[in-house]
Amino acid sequence: MVTCVTPATTFGKTGNHHQDYYRRKGTQPLIVMATQNDSKRPFRVAILSSSVRIGRLSHRVALYIQRYLETQLSLTAEIVDLKEYDFPLFDERLAYQQSPSEKLLDFTRRLMGADGIVIVSPVYNASFSAALKNVIDLYYAEWKRKPVGIVSVTSGSVPGIATVQQLQTLMLKLGALVVPTLCTVVKVAETFSETGEGSPVAERIIRPLLEDLQWLLNQTVSRID
Ligand SMILES: Cc1cc2nc3c(=O)[nH]c(=O)nc-3n(C[C@H](O)[C@H](O)[C@H](O)COP(=O)(O)O)c2cc1C
Repeated sequence: MVTCVTPATTFGKTGNHHQDYYRRKGTQPLIVMATQNDSKRPFRVAILSSSVRIGRLSHRVALYIQRYLETQLSLTAEIVDLKEYDFPLFDERLAYQQSPSEKLLDFTRRLMGADGIVIVSPVYNASFSAALKNVIDLYYAEWKRKPVGIVSVTSGSVPGIATVQQLQTLMLKLGALVVPTLCTVVKVAETFSETGEGSPVAERIIRPLLEDLQWLLNQTVSRID
């Protein structure tokens, strides 16, 4: 692994709360940045887009994250879109299903085959969507030690903190390695276009989560295939 040790003050304003904190304090903590090792493949990240609603808006954030991971962080990123799958209501965990459907196996390969997962969750009644819980429950051992970042998305102006925290609690119960970063998108239509372009503020909202996920991947995932 290539690592470089850099004084925090060489950074511009990053949007990363911790880095900016040290800059304000005028101190120079050493930040160890693990970079991609050129001899290894890039990390693969699956972005689980979890609104299946007609006219959904949170999918815009999934599109933005995919592009950001690929262009800014040089990771491989794929959207796994729940709306494409139209899953029936949960009736058993995958491990106990006698003959799982081909679409469930495909979904599982794409989601669990990734090194890390970003869950993009709509805010529904201060919680998350039933469609999302419907697929989370399909797995148990598969979640263990899986790096997972979570972002909530609302069209309103109150941040979906409860949504993120409920999902964090759920994923911790399943043994996932949960990125603790609190990432919430408000007034989604003002910040993200239909095709996933973000206004200037988008990066400030999203980048800290993705950087922390990348850091966690560097600490925990072996890329020897
Ligand atoms: C069933 C339902 C419940 C919702 N509850 C909330 C809520 O509690 N707080 C909020 O800010 N927005 C709420 N919204 C608005 C969504 O956050 C909004 O639709 C947003 O775009 C994310 O969902 P979407 O991807 O399905 O569009 C709700 C929407 C639906 C459909």
